[in-house]
Amino acid sequence: MHRTLRQCEQYKTTHPAPNGRFSQLTRTARPPSSWSVESQAVHAGETGYRSAATSTSTPIFMTSSFHYETTDALERVLAYDEPGFVYTRYGNPTTHAFETAVAQLEGTDEALAFSSGMAAIYAALALCVSAGDSVVASRDIYGASFSVLRDHFQKLGVTPVFVDITDLDAVSAAVAEHRPAAILAETLSNPLLRIADIRALAKIAHAAEAMLLIDNTFATPLLVKPCSLGADMSIHSSTKYIGGHGDLTGGVIAGSSDVIGSLREQTKMLGAIPSPMDAWLSLRGIKTMPLRFDRQCTSAREIAEVLRGDTRFASILYPGDNEGPQDQFLSAHRGAMMSFEVVGASRETIFRLMSELELVIPATTLGDVYSLMLYPAMASHRALTPEERHEVGITESLVRLSVGIESPKDILDDIRQAASRALG
Ligand SMILES: Cc1ncc(COP(=O)(O)O)c(C=O)c1O
Repeated sequence: MHRTLRQCEQYKTTHPAPNGRFSQLTRTARPPSSWSVESQAVHAGETGYRSAATSTSTPIFMTSSFHYETTDALERVLAYDEPGFVYTRYGNPTTHAFETAVAQLEGTDEALAFSSGMAAIYAALALCVSAGDSVVASRDIYGASFSVLRDHFQKLGVTPVFVDITDLDAVSAAVAEHRPAAILAETLSNPLLRIADIRALAKIAHAAEAMLLIDNTFATPLLVKPCSLGADMSIHSSTKYIGGHGDLTGGVIAGSSDVIGSLREQTKMLGAIPSPMDAWLSLRGIKTMPLRFDRQCTSAREIAEVLRGDTRFASILYPGDNEGPQDQFLSAHRGAMMSFEVVGASRETIFRLMSELELVIPATTLGDVYSLMLYPAMASHRALTPEERHEVGITESLVRLSVGIESPKDILDDIRQAASRALG
């Protein structure tokens, strides 16, 4: 068993009941998995609060601490002898409701919320590595995930080894050579939309006693449940599809009780927790995620098809039905993100095109109800050197589109009118 998992096992014996349950919360937080995913998304996590009347929506517990009638009672909660909440950095009922909803949709024991997606990725890596370890990571990965390994973890004595994660022979060779503590990959990569074979990566990782950390932000648990395929953690920037409205920053990790329990103990020290307000917005967002995501995926497929027939655009990177391991996907959708090149466009032409957009918003995020366009060379992958971007395949003429819930015709018309004006 890998060192990190051994540490998690050890944690289980010292902290038998880590997850807080608030005695005055009512209703079933984990509805039956026989319900459709749309029904689970609406009801999971919600507990209501028992007072004169029971609130239908979980309240926002905007408090730093919780007190009990006696100090003995507080001591029992602090000692994990009884479930409960003590201090919001350790756990909060609103945040816990959101975590429960994510665990339900990811099909895991538990989940833990963070202040951002990067805080979640940092926590996942920090749990696994010590100085002298290495991490095998996908070369084609969100820019900040790339640079936190290249700059921050390297400074702490952890060696990042970047590979083409879709080349399983290259991954096996890197793992055999470096014996990493963890493998980090994205289910659908940012920005090139390449598909990770999670089951195969889990086999390679576990044979080498490494943890498999999967960033599932682009896929969402509606498309892929990484832990059911062998991953040790499914990580999200909940700023994106989970929140869905571009009004919060958050992260979340789903996994087994052992892994999440250890992460929770670590977070008590590192402290990168979300505000209860953001946790509540995330809980509200998750209810409509199945509806939003279904619409966004259907529109994305249609938009990719039309762009493929327009000679002003090339290399339309949108996963085809036959790409990647088929049995990994829970539906026929392939996500709502795509990247494409504007033929012959320089940086200046791309800037002009993005300035001409009227409906699509040129902003550095994704997964919102709004359609969004981003220029990876300027934004998400700015921290990479031009050589690193070239090696990954991020060219100067590549843009990334996050398809929103607007009419696909309006989204397409806007991109085409902006291209006409920019290209002259
Ligand atoms: C795939 C992916 N993972 C993680 C993150 C980081 O999330 P956050 O911005 O919430 O820290 C992002 C942000 O764009 C992302 O695209």
